[in-house]
Amino acid sequence: MIPDKEWLEIRYLADVKSRNQVILRELLDRIRHLEGHINLVDLGAGIGSNFRYLHSRIEQDQHWVFVEIDEELLNYAPDYLSTKLKTEIKFNQSFEIDNRSIFLEKQLLPSLAYLKISPHPDVIVANNSFQFYSETQFGRLIENIDADLIYFTMNYNGIVFEPESEQDRKYLDLYDRYLRGYFVGDTINMGSGTGILMSDIINQFQFDVIVGKSDWELDEDEKTLQHYILRFMEKHIPKVLPNSAEIDEFMLWVDHIQDKITSGQLSMTIRHDDILAIRNELLVSE
Ligand SMILES: C[S@@+](CC[C@H](N)C(=O)[O-])C[C@H]1O[C@@H](n2cnc3c(N)ncnc32)[C@H](O)[C@@H]1O
Repeated sequence: MIPDKEWLEIRYLADVKSRNQVILRELLDRIRHLEGHINLVDLGAGIGSNFRYLHSRIEQDQHWVFVEIDEELLNYAPDYLSTKLKTEIKFNQSFEIDNRSIFLEKQLLPSLAYLKISPHPDVIVANNSFQFYSETQFGRLIENIDADLIYFTMNYNGIVFEPESEQDRKYLDLYDRYLRGYFVGDTINMGSGTGILMSDIINQFQFDVIVGKSDWELDEDEKTLQHYILRFMEKHIPKVLPNSAEIDEFMLWVDHIQDKITSGQLSMTIRHDDILAIRNELLVSE
């Protein structure tokens, strides 16, 4: 599922509200002690949401690499960021924001391929980037990280409706089945276990891991996001229905949920973890 830029723009504000502040403070404390300018790599950078959120919270000058496989998103990022930050922003050209010198580099490459060629960065970040990775792929990615700090946010852990009927659960489980990718053969993506699996995997390497919740609590007033999420389900669940004859029943369910959202009778929790991983040697040398 390649997200469109409108979705990434909308989800930015929900992410801002939900980022785990304890994890963020820990990250910023570590960064504050680093010398010189800070080298950051954003895996699956999309339209640059991580940069938008983090650059003003980091006191030093910064060099960012946006790693992304979707060229359209990457090309849109400078315009999007220029509008939001009210500064002209271009790739491969230094600019200043709040007395910090910033340089943005773009890399149209898969994350793993980039990590294999990257010079030693200080921090690797990624926001909501790994639900379509298998545990093996994610392990390989961590193995190739040559940075002392990893800050991975909005790592997906499933959806809960409130109230939630048995039928809701059936379709939410099918949505997870789609995310896990069972329908395309043997690949099993991390799907709704992403956050939990990721921290277990990072723990197997030379990192100490701190985890904190970053759930989106979408109450009855967050209709736009709720409708968006239902649209994703409407598009993808039919691919994993056990029997194609069930499509009519499924569409009735979609209509029913649509009505509940519109009339303000549904809350959704989109469960996420934020993760900060600190390379072991760093802890020992303190
Ligand atoms: C859910 S989006 C999040 C985008 C951005 N981090 C944000 O928070 O707005 C996940 C992004 O990862 C990118 N992506 C997926 N697989 C990738 C890979 N192997 N290498 C680089 N980027 C990838 C997608 O194109 C997409 O832009």
